[in-house]
Amino acid sequence: MSTTTSSLSLFNGYQILSYALVIALLAYLYFKEIFSYWKDRKIQYVSPIPLFGNLLPVFLLRRNIAEQLAELYRNTTGSIVGIFMLNRPALLIRNPDIVKKLLIKNFDHFNNRSVGAGVDHARVPNGTCGLLASQDDTWKWLRKTVTPAFSASQLKSTTSDIQNVTEKTVDFIRRSSDKISGDINIRDVCSRYSIESGCSTFFGIDPKCFSSEISPYMVVNTNLFDYRLFKRGVHIAMGFISPAISKMLGLEFFHGDSTKCFVEHVRKTMIAREDNMEYRNDYLDIIREAIESYDGEGNLLFNTVEIFVANNETLAAVLTFCCFELVKNQEIQRKLRAEILEIQKDDKSIPCEELCQLKYLECFVKEVIRMYPNVPFLDRICKKDFLLDEPQLKIEEGTSVYVSLLGIHFDPEYYPEPHVFNPDRFLNDSIDWSVYLPFGKGPRMCPAKKYSEIIIKSYLASVLTNFELTKSSRTTEKMVFHTKGFTLQPSEEVFLNMQPLNNTQTVY
Ligand code: HEM
Repeated sequence: MSTTTSSLSLFNGYQILSYALVIALLAYLYFKEIFSYWKDRKIQYVSPIPLFGNLLPVFLLRRNIAEQLAELYRNTTGSIVGIFMLNRPALLIRNPDIVKKLLIKNFDHFNNRSVGAGVDHARVPNGTCGLLASQDDTWKWLRKTVTPAFSASQLKSTTSDIQNVTEKTVDFIRRSSDKISGDINIRDVCSRYSIESGCSTFFGIDPKCFSSEISPYMVVNTNLFDYRLFKRGVHIAMGFISPAISKMLGLEFFHGDSTKCFVEHVRKTMIAREDNMEYRNDYLDIIREAIESYDGEGNLLFNTVEIFVANNETLAAVLTFCCFELVKNQEIQRKLRAEILEIQKDDKSIPCEELCQLKYLECFVKEVIRMYPNVPFLDRICKKDFLLDEPQLKIEEGTSVYVSLLGIHFDPEYYPEPHVFNPDRFLNDSIDWSVYLPFGKGPRMCPAKKYSEIIIKSYLASVLTNFELTKSSRTTEKMVFHTKGFTLQPSEEVFLNMQPLNNTQTVY
């Protein structure tokens, strides 16, 4: 009996071993075949690791996807580099001329993003999925429809709303700074300011971020896109890393319940406007009108969520980075303040048009977004085979191409001493756009560039004319980025010291 059992378990042991060997052999052959993709095409590539491709450090949470792409950029040379996003061959573009070709000249081959390829339009409730992920004709229609919401004339009409928000911000900082030390969590301030300005400009909503400890909009904002939560981090990262897996598993780019919650707020605002016959010609009104003419699937209201997230995710971080650099560079802070005070009127107002013309302020903002490109890489997917002439390569349909802004913006070939914060490098406008791409370029570039610049400059003007920003005992020496997600975010709260300059508040 015991002999039979032991021969049986021996047999099972052999069976398991042979199954394991077969699986290992198949896996080896599979990865050998996949990973020979760039070698077969005689394109330089970075050696991948089975299962992870070139993304192991991302999965080990050593760095986020953007930092990994920048690392791949730094460690390679040449115009293009073959990489592997898990098992998917992709290209990292290192040459400015090829960047121009992909983003503008041959847009018809590269008009969509990889992230959109992972959105299952039939399953996801957000219909057109917003500009970021929508594709082809849906994207074209939506972009044309919503562009007026970002136009100069529309933005001009919201100047008084923005002025209102900056006043509330200054008041909040005065109230919230630690009474003894003057310390404040600037990231929290910037997040409140971004939500307030975005909600009022695009939706005519008052989110009450400054009158309550935590407003419902702040909660929704945190939950929608919080990649610090493990599950959300996986969902969001997979949208970029593997659209196919993302689609197969039905992963949500934005948190479903929070999306519904935000849309409910928007829906109520819309109904109230209809009841009061109110019209502001803002994003909400444009969507309201579009709903009547749109004959696609899904609910157009859902793409308001994307605007809400895109606004808060980018601006809060960039403003935090601005303040961090102001603290580190006291001389630059003084110079900026002096420039802004020169255009301040006797009644303390600072006209928005004059503010936007200030040269040094312009250079400062440019330098902050060079060093902290909050959306740190551009991503496109090849729609139809494309022949690259130098080096010769047929980029096949379905291949993702990436431009690492974090890589290019720190390339010493374009930016001498790239780690030195130096706004002067932008003084003579000599930097070519193909190596300075914080808002992307071409038909798919950020529609909110102008708006963002106004919001950032208004914030800086109000803060600089009312406070002196200095280090606190809790200010970190170095900005460290969060290792999850795909935008650049500080890994921790950012504290600094803000002492009122005088008792008079700047108005706009
Ligand atoms: C400093 C702030 C911002 C930065 C650095 C930034 C950067 C970017 C970048 C790099 C892209 C990709 C462009 C490309 O692929 O060529 C983008 C796209 C986009 N951004 Fe921004 N952005 C900012 C603020 C905003 C704000 C405030 C909003 C909304 C209110 C917004 C909405 C969008 C949308 C909807 C897209 C997708 C456009 C499309 O595919 O047609 N962004 N942004």
